[in-house]
Amino acid sequence: MSVTTAPLTPETGIAYTGLHGAGLVDPAVARDLRAALDAHGVVIVREADLDDAGLVALSRMLGDVVVAPIGGDATHPEISAVSLDPAKSDLAAYRRSTFFWHIDGANDAIPQKATLLTARVVAEEGGDTEFANTYAAYEALPEDEKKRIAELRVVHSFKATQILVTPNPSARELAAWERVPSREHPLVWTRGTGRKSLLVGATADHVVGLPADESRALLDHYLDWATQPRFTVRHSWRRGDLVIWDNTGMLHRALPYRPTSPRLMHRTTLVGEEAVA
Ligand SMILES: [Fe+2]
Repeated sequence: MSVTTAPLTPETGIAYTGLHGAGLVDPAVARDLRAALDAHGVVIVREADLDDAGLVALSRMLGDVVVAPIGGDATHPEISAVSLDPAKSDLAAYRRSTFFWHIDGANDAIPQKATLLTARVVAEEGGDTEFANTYAAYEALPEDEKKRIAELRVVHSFKATQILVTPNPSARELAAWERVPSREHPLVWTRGTGRKSLLVGATADHVVGLPADESRALLDHYLDWATQPRFTVRHSWRRGDLVIWDNTGMLHRALPYRPTSPRLMHRTTLVGEEAVA
């Protein structure tokens, strides 16, 4: 099997071609993909054609795999279906929030390490996935600005995301959102390695200690900064493609597609390895 790789941009993303099915489920390949994930943030395996058992087996070689709390597949509880069709996914109603830039699990102490997403059915129109590199976005800030924001803290909430989808919620909806615990994190996430990223996105509710308007303006500013074209890559799905991304450093979003679209993704998630600090 001849395998080729090509970076998507100098800073973000790498694409593999020539890795398919059982050929992917191999410890040596997994080690290579894991290193590529750390170096590039987004790893695309074109037309990987991985079945559900293969997806779970490869995921286990890359890290500890989350058992989906709701909506897990009956045979493979680690797999969740991503679809806007309520018949295919219990979470269909919440999926519209994925059209906004976010990281998964920003309300948790230890956000999930990575996501593996494979395309079972692609949308006839729309439904690309975009990624924004928040390590590169932090790195590109002027030094004095890095100092200015070093101590800022941000509260992340479920409500902040849902209000984007449903701007005028009923009292009942609002109460349900507010029951989900929120979480305070630094704006700048410093890893054990010293590497830093900006922790922003749809879950960012407010900056601690700032008036509401200033807080909103600051969060919007850094989200706009991090999602400039120079820090982003976009993937147009073909059936069978597998994309793995570092959920801690890449914001992601789906581009809109019709709610009645047959688009169907199967997803696994790797358990977080590092608390936000
Ligand atoms: Fe997501």
